[in-house]
Amino acid sequence: MNELDLKILLVGDTCVGKTSILSKYIDDIFEENHISTIGVEYKVKSIIINGIKINLRIWDSSGQDRFRSITQSFFRNADGILFIFDLTEKKTFEGVKQWLIDSEYYDLNIKKILVGNKVDLVEKRKVDKVIIDNFVKKIQLKYYEMSAKDGTNIDNTFRELAEMILSGLSKEDLNEKLNYNNLDIKRDGSFRISNPKKKQKKKYC
Ligand code: GTP
Repeated sequence: MNELDLKILLVGDTCVGKTSILSKYIDDIFEENHISTIGVEYKVKSIIINGIKINLRIWDSSGQDRFRSITQSFFRNADGILFIFDLTEKKTFEGVKQWLIDSEYYDLNIKKILVGNKVDLVEKRKVDKVIIDNFVKKIQLKYYEMSAKDGTNIDNTFRELAEMILSGLSKEDLNEKLNYNNLDIKRDGSFRISNPKKKQKKKYC
């Protein structure tokens, strides 16, 4: 079976739930007291789309300001990004706008989906759906409400992002990517920057 590697980024302010979404998607685990990510780390999940094995290399970045420059360098060569904010924290919705601007600097063609996380916390919700809908309509962005706690919209959002990326590839691009993968050549050097075994964690949210 043909294989294809896609580089997916999870970005957004600190504590919005990026690591939790990744843990739920990859390991079906949710932890109430997660620890803030230091720098970046990635995990891989494979899914099949149109007979192609897609290896999603999902990079979880830190939302802390002090890691912002490291995180930004990861926009380079990304195929898709989930921009994540916390539905219970208004300022993270404002913050996501800056993450969107940052990503534009690197590549206009990266496929993007906006995610409002923690939809399970119905009583604590602070970001109005109408405001979000107006925003995504204006900039033509897909939007999903997710919960890393109960799993709402996790699998389908990652699949949809992968499908968006695949459908945006020309036949030549697709062939090029498949060839690269068959030869086991990484398309950029960034994979060497983070070693998941050396991942450091610090500070509770
Ligand atoms: P940084 O690494 O600092 O950028 O944070 P992060 O965005 O990776 O956030 P993290 O996944 O560490 O989650 C922050 C806190 O929110 C943790 O206490 C999680 O348990 C909680 N949390 C994350 N997602 C959800 C969710 O969908 N629902 C609820 N109820 N809590 C969540």
